Amino acid sequence: MKKKIFVTRRLLKENEEKLKELFEVTLNKDDKIYKPQEIIDGSKNFDGILSSVSDPISADTISKLSSSIKIIANGAVGFGNIDIKAAKEKGITVTNTPDVLTDATADIQILLLLGASRKAYEGRLAAETQNWKWSWDFLLGKQMSNKKLGILGMGRIGRAVAKRAKAFNMEIHYHNRSKLSPELEDGAIYHKDLKSLFKQSEFLSINCPATPETTKLVNKETLSYLEENTVVGNAARGDIVDDDAMIEALKSGKVFAYGLDVYNGEPKIHPEYLKLKNIFLLPHLGSATKRTRWDMAFRATKNLEDFFSGNKPQDQVN
Ligand code: GLV
Repeated sequence: MKKKIFVTRRLLKENEEKLKELFEVTLNKDDKIYKPQEIIDGSKNFDGILSSVSDPISADTISKLSSSIKIIANGAVGFGNIDIKAAKEKGITVTNTPDVLTDATADIQILLLLGASRKAYEGRLAAETQNWKWSWDFLLGKQMSNKKLGILGMGRIGRAVAKRAKAFNMEIHYHNRSKLSPELEDGAIYHKDLKSLFKQSEFLSINCPATPETTKLVNKETLSYLEENTVVGNAARGDIVDDDAMIEALKSGKVFAYGLDVYNGEPKIHPEYLKLKNIFLLPHLGSATKRTRWDMAFRATKNLEDFFSGNKPQDQVN
């Protein structure tokens, strides 16, 4: 008998075909974003859930899930949307999809840093309104090449950002829970504390996971450690940044510009961000290439397959 999988969001065709081959699935044809109660009701008597980054699965939701649910395979590297502790307590395995989106996300992080520092948003506005002429002082940005880059969170994506930044001749600094091996560090300079990293960073790349410890880690106090005119990029999670503090820093010039792909309470965006010019916004496109999305959903499927064949899924996170 095929196991029953509740798929919360519409996947690419090839991924849905593969799932149908392996499991009995309920797909989300209209790609509606389900409310927690709809996930609870929809997955009644199912064996597993294939969730996405847009599904907040809190401790309360988990407590109300049918006891038949044994696994939640999240189709994302981040799993801050799921209370993994509550899941573990209920005997539910949670998996993520690392590796396959590292390059796509690191590419976007460079785009965010460049887009912000070189005023891509204001440039686009000026171009589309035909309201420009070349002049010596027109939309002068901040050059990324040859600067110091601080990386907050030197996991797979942080290291992939570092690799790319080296092509810009940047000096790489990082802060992480622990110092990496020389091989993984690859010449980057470790800062045991965040303050020391922020003081050094001319550009700051946020790449740590969203956890209770990193919630609002970038806040009024930590932003005050930055030198004036720092460029910040965030392709990780909105929760890591205190938006009000960041908006103040963007207005005061502490932060020269902010490039971000992720938001607190997505898809809503803090209305003040929309009023600022020194900002470069993207709508959560970090992993948005066809190849990457295929690989992410295939990887989530493989985790389900391994789990139901009695093996530990390679990406179990709880
Ligand atoms: C995307 O945001 C992911 O975590 O995979």
